[in-house]
Amino acid sequence: MQIINTIKTLVTTIKHWKQLGLSIAFVPTMGNLHQGHLKLITQGKDQADKVVVSIFVNPTQFSLGEDFSSYPRTEQQDSELLKIHNVDLLFLPSVNEIYKPKARTIISVTELSNLHCGASRVGHFNGVATIVCKLFNLVQPDIALFGEKDYQQLAIIRAMIEDLNIPVQIKSVSTVRETDGLAMSSRNSYLTKEQRAIAPILYQTLRQAYHQIITKQLGFEQIEQQKQKVLNDVGFIVDYFSICHANTLLAAKQEDDEVVILAAAKLGKTRLIDNIHFKINNLKVDSLD
Ligand code: PAJ
Repeated sequence: MQIINTIKTLVTTIKHWKQLGLSIAFVPTMGNLHQGHLKLITQGKDQADKVVVSIFVNPTQFSLGEDFSSYPRTEQQDSELLKIHNVDLLFLPSVNEIYKPKARTIISVTELSNLHCGASRVGHFNGVATIVCKLFNLVQPDIALFGEKDYQQLAIIRAMIEDLNIPVQIKSVSTVRETDGLAMSSRNSYLTKEQRAIAPILYQTLRQAYHQIITKQLGFEQIEQQKQKVLNDVGFIVDYFSICHANTLLAAKQEDDEVVILAAAKLGKTRLIDNIHFKINNLKVDSLD
């Protein structure tokens, strides 16, 4: 596996691969890799000649007071894992390599970026869209893989590549979970033992809401309120628990066919997000019973 720190060497390598007619799958990450990241990488490997992974803790997607400085950085361990998984190239740039002081341009995917996580993390999705766009320009992948775990992020990236005609195919990968249902996340390591025991209730509550929706037991707003209360009662501080249209991410209407239940809640200082995405009239959904 090649480890590249500079844009110059990355661009030369990619150019060489393109000349040879090789296809490229790309998995952007912020490192501290877990099974969720590895699923994206394995699927990328199956679908292209070369797999490129980037590890870059992107400062522009963290707001003031968030965990940019304490975000787990485990580059040595990550690069060993990537070698084992036959990744061809790890792009591991410094902040100075990526952001020049005179940079002026920000990508902002309007509408989608101010909802849900964007409402409480102001500017977060502009940071995400801008770094992903920059990385796409450098890596020039044929396909790029993103996790459904970050559903709003995925929707924003899809909108960006459509709006800006970026020639990359986006593949989504279903969420990898711990055996008790907690979605894997680099931030789970922040949880205390007590918080870790409560954390799976987020997904359990999403599943209960999913069952209530498909059996049409209650209206969407009632379900949302009930679930927020359940989560607050066990110790979460709920940011949002929202039943949304799967594409617009606006409040779902009873007649909508494809919906996503999006949730974000804090346990102490740790913010967890999760979701369930399904078609109401087609109950054959991956990993749901
Ligand atoms: P990061 O949180 O490291 O996630 C990198 C990719 O892994 C994202 O596409 C994310 O959705 C996916 N992922 C994380 N946990 C997952 C899980 N449990 N199951 C499946 N996929 C999972 O998301 C980011 O980094 C950044 O915002 C980034 C896109 C790299 C831009 O900086």
